[in-house]
Amino acid sequence: MKELLLLLLVVTKASSRSHSSWCEPGCNCQGDLKFTICSRALFTELPARVPPYTDLLDLSDNLISVIPEGSFNKNRKLRILLLQNNNISVVEDGGFSQLEFLQKLDLRWNRISTLTEGFSFGLAFLRELQLAHNRLTGLHSRSFLHLDGLQRLNLTGNSIRTIQVRSFSPMSSLRQLHLQDNRLTSLRSGIFSMLRSLEVLNLAGNRISKMETGVFKPLTSMSLLNLVNNQMSTVYFKTFLSIRTYSTHILLEENPWNCDCDLQRVFRKLQSIQRLFLDDYYNLTCEEPPVLKDYRLMDTELCLAETITVLIITITVVITVLAAILMGERSRKKKEKRRKHWPQQGELSEESDY
Ligand SMILES: *[C@@H]1O[C@H](CO)[C@@H](O)[C@H](O)[C@H]1NC(C)=O
Ligand SMILES: *[C@@H]1O[C@H](CO)[C@@H](O)[C@H](O)[C@H]1NC(C)=O
Ligand SMILES: *[C@@H]1O[C@H](CO)[C@@H](O)[C@H](O)[C@H]1NC(C)=O
Repeated sequence: MKELLLLLLVVTKASSRSHSSWCEPGCNCQGDLKFTICSRALFTELPARVPPYTDLLDLSDNLISVIPEGSFNKNRKLRILLLQNNNISVVEDGGFSQLEFLQKLDLRWNRISTLTEGFSFGLAFLRELQLAHNRLTGLHSRSFLHLDGLQRLNLTGNSIRTIQVRSFSPMSSLRQLHLQDNRLTSLRSGIFSMLRSLEVLNLAGNRISKMETGVFKPLTSMSLLNLVNNQMSTVYFKTFLSIRTYSTHILLEENPWNCDCDLQRVFRKLQSIQRLFLDDYYNLTCEEPPVLKDYRLMDTELCLAETITVLIITITVVITVLAAILMGERSRKKKEKRRKHWPQQGELSEESDY
């Protein structure tokens, strides 16, 4: 019995020793050391000991603030890396560069303010990048340079004001781009160039009031365009006409529409385009002019005044033309009458000449 107990003790000690030699205190290494869970461990830096064959490393809810260069060079097999809810403000160039098998990287709720080219070094197989709720203010043409395989990018809830032309163009496999709740005010054409695979573009909750007419043209796979809760007061027909897809749903609610005949006409023309679906057209409300505030755009007939004006102008023109013709006719008749007199005078003068 004593021997058995001793044996048990030795075994547990040995196993706990081997466990601890692979697994940092504060972490829980499970499933043949494939899952390393170090959530809420009060870490202020990355743990030194992570089992080398770990698939999933969960470091969420810690106080990590820096990702130094080459941090994961002993964990090249990682497929999922969770770093949400930390204090990360610095990702050194090449911080994730060893992670050639990484598919998902979650960096939500951190303090990242810039994405340098070095951020994406070596992440060619990354499929999903969560960067929501950081402090990004702008995206540069090299921010996502090495993310050729990315399919889903979530940038919700940053403070992005500027997007350089071609910022997203390295990501030709991207299918979802979430940019809601940022500070975009205008969309320049070229910012979405090369996004041939993009299916979902979420721009809700920005301050967009201006869009260059060609901005959505490169998005030939787009099935959902969300522009809810922006600052648009009007749209150009061409902007949406240039969307060359099989079918695209467009959401436009919660914008301060300036309801005039032009706007109504644009929407009527858009509705007649088979491939475009204005799903919330019936919910669009007017902000301007004041008399129409909170009225629904579809409930008003804004082109009536214009129609009447056009009618009046047409009638006026017709009357004028008719009058002119009549006057012309009358004066022709007068002339004819006069001509009947003139020849007699001519005869007379001829007579007097001879
Ligand atoms: C978070 O990082 C900042 C520096 O970026 C530091 O000043 C602050 O103390 C950190 N907060 C915590 C809770 O570690
Ligand atoms: C993007 O991030 C926000 C904030 O975390 C989240 O609510 C949303 O579901 C995410 N969307 C996708 C498609 O990942
Ligand atoms: C229109 O607004 C109503 C009430 O806010 C909402 O229930 C409905 O889902 C909206 N319809 C669309 C198509 O967004």
